[in-house]
Amino acid sequence: MERLPGFRDFYPEPLPHQDVWSADARQHIFDQWRTTARRYGFREYDGPPLEPLELFTTKSGEEIVGQLFDFEDKGKRHIALRPEMTPTLARMVAAHERNYKKPIKWFAIPQLFRYEKQQKGRLREHFQFNADLIGETDPAADAELIALLIDTLRGFGLTAEDFVIRLSSRNAWQDFFKHGGGDRAHEYEFFQIIDKLERTPPEEAEKRLSAMGFTLAGVTAFIQSGQPSAELECILQNLAARGLKDFVKIDYQVIRGLAYYTGVVFEAFDRKGEFRAIAGGGRYNNLVKLISGGKVDLPALGFGMGDVVLLELLKARGLLPKFDAPTDVYVLIEDEALRAISLKLVHDLRGAGYAVEYSLTPAKPEKQFKRAQELKATHTARLENDAYVRIRNSKSRDEIVTGLEGAANHLG
Ligand code: HAM
Repeated sequence: MERLPGFRDFYPEPLPHQDVWSADARQHIFDQWRTTARRYGFREYDGPPLEPLELFTTKSGEEIVGQLFDFEDKGKRHIALRPEMTPTLARMVAAHERNYKKPIKWFAIPQLFRYEKQQKGRLREHFQFNADLIGETDPAADAELIALLIDTLRGFGLTAEDFVIRLSSRNAWQDFFKHGGGDRAHEYEFFQIIDKLERTPPEEAEKRLSAMGFTLAGVTAFIQSGQPSAELECILQNLAARGLKDFVKIDYQVIRGLAYYTGVVFEAFDRKGEFRAIAGGGRYNNLVKLISGGKVDLPALGFGMGDVVLLELLKARGLLPKFDAPTDVYVLIEDEALRAISLKLVHDLRGAGYAVEYSLTPAKPEKQFKRAQELKATHTARLENDAYVRIRNSKSRDEIVTGLEGAANHLG
C-alpha cells in the first residue's frame, strides 16, 4: 500500500531510501525553532488540526481556499484540515485575550495541509513554525518579529550570505493602487497579480494589469524604486541597531498571497534564489476583529516558516548535523544467572538519565560485544557477580570495578 502523494514518511537515520524523510532532521528543526522562540519570550500554544470550514473560507483568501482538504463529518458539519494556523490563533486569542498581558507573544509548530500541486518545496502536508505578536501597533513589534525570524535561521548556521528577508508593505502598495486610480473592490485581486509577478509570463501580467488600469512598466518602476516608507525605515533602523542590517532589504515585489494582511509584509528567501520562500509573514490588524465578529479588536503580526524548504536549504549548504542516537552504556549479560540483577542495573542507569542497551534474549558474548560496538556505546558494563560491576570506557579502554549502587557515578 502506497502513501498518499504529497505526504511524507519520517524514518530514523540512517535513512533506508532517498524517498523518505528524516525524523531526526525534523526533530533538529523543531528543537531549534523552540529554542529561539523561547529566547525571545514566546510561549507555545496549539489548536485542533480540524476546524469549521468557514474559519478559512471567509478569512484566508481564494488561493488557500482552493487548496483545502475539506469534507463533511459524521455530524454533518463541514470541516477542513487546517491549511494555516493564523485563523485558529486569531480565534483562540479572541476567546481568552483578557487573561493574557499584551503584547501576547506565542508560537506553535502545527502540521498543515494544502491540496497543492506537488513540486520542489511544496507538498500536501508540512510543519510550520508560527510566531505571532498580538496587541502592539508600533513598528518595534515588526522589527522584533523579523529579528526572531533572522535569529531562527542563524540558529541553523545560515548567514547573511545564505538568506535575505525581503521587506515590503501593503500600505505602500495601497497608496500606489489608489493614486493609480484603482477600484478599491479590486484591490486584493491587484495584490494577487503582484504576488504572482515573478512566476507569470510578462505578456500575461501586462494583460491582467491593464484590465485594472495599470501597466507592467509602472508596476516594475515602483518595485525598482525601492524607497522605504517611514514605517519600513523605522524597522530597518531597529534591525540595524541589533547588527542585523545585512539580513534585510526593501523589496516591493513581495506583497503576500493571503487576504488578511494589512501593512508590513515580508518573506525570507535563499540568496541564490534556488528555492521557494523559506518563510513569510506580516501584519494582519483586522483578522482578530473579523473572526470575533467585532467583539475583540487587536492588532497583530506574525510569520510562518515551513520545514520543507528549510530542510532542502540546510542540506544544500551542508548544515545538518550528523544524526546518531548515542548509547551511553551497553550492559553485557554473559551469564544468564545474572540476568535479573543485570536488569536492575539497566533500570538504575536509565533512571540516572543514561541511554542503556542490552540483549533482550540470551546471546553469545561476542555477539553482544559486536552490538555494543555497532551502537558506538561509550561504555560497556558487565556484572562480575551479584554485587560488583565492571565498567569499561570503550575509547580509553580504562576499566573499573565498582559496587552496583555506585555504578552511575563512574560513567563520566
Ligand atoms: P504562507 O506564506 O502561506 O504563510 O506559508 C509560510 C511558509 O510555509 C512558506 O514560506 C513555506 O516555507 C511554507 N509552506 C507553505 N505552503 C507549503 C507547502 N504546501 N509545502 C511546504 N511548505 C509550505 C502562512 O501560512 C501564514 N499563515 C503565516 C503567518 C503567520 N502570517 C502571520 N502569522
